Amino acid sequence: MKILITGVAGFIGFRLAERLLKDNHNIYGIDNLNNYYSKKLKVKRLQILKKYKFFKFKKLDLKNKNSLNYIKKFKNINVIYHFAAQAGVRFTLTNPQKYFDDNIKSFFNLIEVVKNNKNTKFFFASSSSVYGDQKKFPLSENIQLNEKNIYGLSKKINEIMCENYSRTFGLKMIGLRFFTVFGEWGRPDMLIFKYIKSNLDKKNFYLNSDGQHFRDFTYIDDVLIILKKLLHTKIKNNYEVFNICSNKPIKVLDVIKKINKWNSTFKFRSKNSKFLNKIEVFKTHGDNKKILKLFKKFKYTSFDKALNNTIKWYLDKKINKIT
Ligand SMILES: NC(=O)c1ccc[n+]([C@@H]2O[C@H](COP(=O)([O-])OP(=O)(O)OC[C@H]3O[C@@H](n4cnc5c(N)ncnc54)[C@H](O)[C@@H]3O)[C@@H](O)[C@H]2O)c1
Repeated sequence: MKILITGVAGFIGFRLAERLLKDNHNIYGIDNLNNYYSKKLKVKRLQILKKYKFFKFKKLDLKNKNSLNYIKKFKNINVIYHFAAQAGVRFTLTNPQKYFDDNIKSFFNLIEVVKNNKNTKFFFASSSSVYGDQKKFPLSENIQLNEKNIYGLSKKINEIMCENYSRTFGLKMIGLRFFTVFGEWGRPDMLIFKYIKSNLDKKNFYLNSDGQHFRDFTYIDDVLIILKKLLHTKIKNNYEVFNICSNKPIKVLDVIKKINKWNSTFKFRSKNSKFLNKIEVFKTHGDNKKILKLFKKFKYTSFDKALNNTIKWYLDKKINKIT
């Protein structure tokens, strides 16, 4: 298949591209290589992809309408994975404009091009952040959304745009609500790698709350299996959203305790705040029934095994030196 992946130098985009290249798909990757986190890490990911003969990369920024001419030239793209975005919750406080530019304006620019390709399946990254704080768990896809920050709002707007475009233009558009994805080649701005790095660098670690909050940690290898299965699964409705989650929330402090077991010098030297920051949600816990219904069999990796693989990879590759 001919597949376009936006945000291909990012964590999920890179990992999916590599997996699909191994299956001999043609991958066209784009990314603006922004500096939200280590550019060196993004370049390292790209170096791996460039070893595959069916991979083509173009550095471009989706918020510049003119750069979309590159995408317009493609005919017969079977599938698009739109993962390019400004991620992160804390960053919304200091950089709200980026969420408008990279997540809303860029999204609009892309779907305006896509609307002419009726045969292209369009997957896009949404987020658990669209749920915000809720009372009833696990969170199923059809409950009322209650986003708490500009990031969640931008993803909710993406969903509304796709529901509308899909209905109006008859497009196949599938939203993927990712829940705290982690693993090898993961994002250095997220809890696990941030915590390990602070320890290796003997620095204080700043937690956004008291650590009593929960996240539905979801291992990248499981995400990749789900995404690969989705590629070949017939989805009845033109517009759908799916939770991509493990359905097993873990308290953040418990994750930190598990990481500490790896190294006796690891300590939780925190200047954490006693209260949850106003933009952070207390708990994410997705219901995965809707996605699992599509597949006959699926077994998640245990959290401990996934965490071990992740930490081992980070330490072996000395990722703290480049992030
Ligand atoms: N990792 C998670 O736990 C998680 C959870 C929920 C949602 N998501 C969403 O999944 C997607 C992928 O996440 P990720 O963790 O791989 O993030 P990431 O930051 O590693 O990857 C995003 C990539 O998009 C690129 N990008 C940003 N703006 C761009 C623009 N205007 N034009 C071209 N490229 C641009 C960045 O340079 C980056 O490489 C994002 O949309 C994110 O919001 C991720």
